[in-house]
Amino acid sequence: MELLLVSLVLLLVRCGQSLDNGLMRTPPMGWLAWERFRCNIDCDNDPENCISERLFMDMADRLAEDGWKELGYQYVNIDDCWAAKKRDSLGRLVADPQRFPSGIKALAQYVHLRGLKLGIYGDLGTKTCGGYPGTTLDLVELDAHTFASWDVDMLKLDGCYSNSSYKAEGYPLMSMALNITGRPIAFSCSWPAYEGGLPPRVNYTLLGEICNLWRNYDDIQDSWDSVRNIINWYGNHQQVLQPAAGPGRWNDPDMLIIGNFGLSYEQSKSQMALWAILAAPLFMSNDLRTISKKDSYILQNKLLIMINQDPLGLQGHRLLKGKDNIEVWMRELSSETMALAVFSQRTDMPYHYSTSFSQLNITTPEVFSAMDVYSGEALHNLEVDTKFTVTINPSGVVMLYVYPEKRLELNARNRRHEAGQLLL
Ligand SMILES: *[C@@H]1O[C@H](CO)[C@@H](O)[C@H](O)[C@H]1NC(C)=O
Ligand SMILES: *[C@@H]1O[C@H](CO)[C@@H](O)[C@H](O)[C@H]1NC(C)=O
Ligand SMILES: *[C@@H]1O[C@H](CO)[C@@H](O)[C@H](O)[C@H]1NC(C)=O
Repeated sequence: MELLLVSLVLLLVRCGQSLDNGLMRTPPMGWLAWERFRCNIDCDNDPENCISERLFMDMADRLAEDGWKELGYQYVNIDDCWAAKKRDSLGRLVADPQRFPSGIKALAQYVHLRGLKLGIYGDLGTKTCGGYPGTTLDLVELDAHTFASWDVDMLKLDGCYSNSSYKAEGYPLMSMALNITGRPIAFSCSWPAYEGGLPPRVNYTLLGEICNLWRNYDDIQDSWDSVRNIINWYGNHQQVLQPAAGPGRWNDPDMLIIGNFGLSYEQSKSQMALWAILAAPLFMSNDLRTISKKDSYILQNKLLIMINQDPLGLQGHRLLKGKDNIEVWMRELSSETMALAVFSQRTDMPYHYSTSFSQLNITTPEVFSAMDVYSGEALHNLEVDTKFTVTINPSGVVMLYVYPEKRLELNARNRRHEAGQLLL
């Protein structure tokens, strides 16, 4: 009960409102082209991997047919380099005619027929980061109208080739322009990432009113260093970031790179666990046509997705960062449950970490259970002072779902069954 009360109070004191388009009451999930496919436009030599309608149709097929959609991964999102280098005679954006011969509206229809949603990319400035036509202030309304006329469901608006005052004017303007189209279009704002991600240059109250999600920090790259930097930055600035998030308004630590080349198995599990703790959007940027079973299992872990999608929408935080390079992260969830991630930034060998909830200053239900979300193993009859030990591999994580012993026992048994099925 106490946890629930704390949550309600937190919700009530939460400043500001969220963008009133009814979208993304839980963090959005889907696929986004950028990290894996970048600005590869060489369709002559690399037809399967270039930015083209074929790539997005392939990914839509995989999302719809390989069990992703049912788990919530519903967005198929285009990033930079989709457009022709010139606007048409009426000043409208057009897709590159060689690489998107059917056009974006047809692609949206293809995606919608499979029960998915289509996202597109723009840039508030004179050019996109990749040098394609940008959206200057005078073109905001026209571009919003064009995207809506194509039946697009989401817009990521980048911020290359403009300055701070331009962005301060342009992002609210685009939010309004999208609203005026009458089509619910989720709005992802890269704005704070260009302003250092922190107040006073970033006003998170305002962002929550005009955007559904926003990139706060550097672009993710295909490396563990990059993932660690991002996790550390979110931990170091959680006092500012944590209250900014809530239903309809999310901090975005950037794409999941699980399934690519830079992360080990342990590191992949860590990224997924920390993104769930952070209530982060889950946009995979990988090749769903060739992804391994092992990586799919991480991304399709039902309990982790349930934690990420918790309806309270409270972002978690880093409870402690030890001298032993072990960190404990916690996220409060609905129904008196919570997620606890014990995360290792060690580089030596598996580490045995002993603690108790009282030692972590966490209020718990009187008697509770904890289930390892990756192994499905459960610890029962824990009390607040009970010592327990977890073994964490280097750059790995042990993620526990914590629930009251009695009330959720039946649910947990079902979940354990599911988790058990996911064991390799
Ligand atoms: C536009 O904004 C109004 C008022 O905030 C809201 O009621 C409406 O649902 C919004 N429409 C869309 C399409 O976002
Ligand atoms: C920002 O960019 C706009 C448009 O290019 C320009 O008019 C304005 O002078 C710039 N402001 C600053 C402070 O550089
Ligand atoms: C931040 O934005 C909100 C909402 O628009 C506004 O009420 C508030 O005054 C702004 N805060 C600062 C410090 O500018």
